[in-house]
Amino acid sequence: MIHINFVEFEKFKKLIFDNSGIEIKKEKIFLLEARLQKRLKECKLENFSDYYRLVISDEQELQLMINRITTNETSFFRENRHFDFLKKNIFPNVRTSIRIWSAAASIGLEAYTIAMLAEEFLPSSIKKYEILATDINNEVLNQARKGVYNIKYAERIPENYLKKYCLKGIGNMNGQFTIVNKLKQNILFQKINLINSISPNIGDFDLIFLRNVLIYFDIPTKKKVVENVLERLKPGGYFFVGHSESLFNITDDLVQIAPTIYKK
Ligand SMILES: C[S@@+](CC[C@H](N)C(=O)[O-])C[C@H]1O[C@@H](n2cnc3c(N)ncnc32)[C@H](O)[C@@H]1O
Repeated sequence: MIHINFVEFEKFKKLIFDNSGIEIKKEKIFLLEARLQKRLKECKLENFSDYYRLVISDEQELQLMINRITTNETSFFRENRHFDFLKKNIFPNVRTSIRIWSAAASIGLEAYTIAMLAEEFLPSSIKKYEILATDINNEVLNQARKGVYNIKYAERIPENYLKKYCLKGIGNMNGQFTIVNKLKQNILFQKINLINSISPNIGDFDLIFLRNVLIYFDIPTKKKVVENVLERLKPGGYFFVGHSESLFNITDDLVQIAPTIYKK
């Protein structure tokens, strides 16, 4: 086990904050040590100071370190109240088309959940939807793009959706399932760091999901991220945050219409 000392911890803490906005509190020193441990060994390094020197001199290694630091926990149909809202209040009322942004997408389960519901609940004459799924971590995005998951993730997918939208793996894919192309073709996966200003080239969105990511940021960073993301929300568009998150004192640009659901 390679230990991190306090001086090294402070350097990594600042580097991670500057590059991702993620705040690593002092009590998380052992978590940081554990998450980077394997990488030090892979690089055949003996201490965290050497790893720090490597990370600041190599863009790719910096990305790799950020990948190891992020928490990517997610599930299909997570915080289902938001999806009930889509089914009842949004999708059936779409008249032309709809654009949706899953702004901290992790391995893509939020985006695929939304796509399943769009297939089911958009008026049949329309069925036009576009989902942008973004994250700072390029490894989770690669997995999201493939849409191949361990069978344990299927637990929360309703039986009839499993049949329609998921292909059970056989042979060397046993124990896994793949999302069907019909859903994948409506989703674009792209790396976006939410602490930076966001290019208008991604367009504007009717719905934005920014769920379970604000918890990793301090208050000024939360404000910055929300401001960045809201620039891309259309007037009248809806904004969703995680059930343990709130926009109280973070922005005045939205009206709360239900717990964790806001409108511009
Ligand atoms: C816990 S997951 C949430 C996934 C999904 N939204 C959900 O609620 O299930 C948080 C995600 O935020 C991403 N993230 C953290 N900091 C970020 C940043 N500065 N820009 C973009 N994504 C970030 C992480 O890589 C991680 O995949």
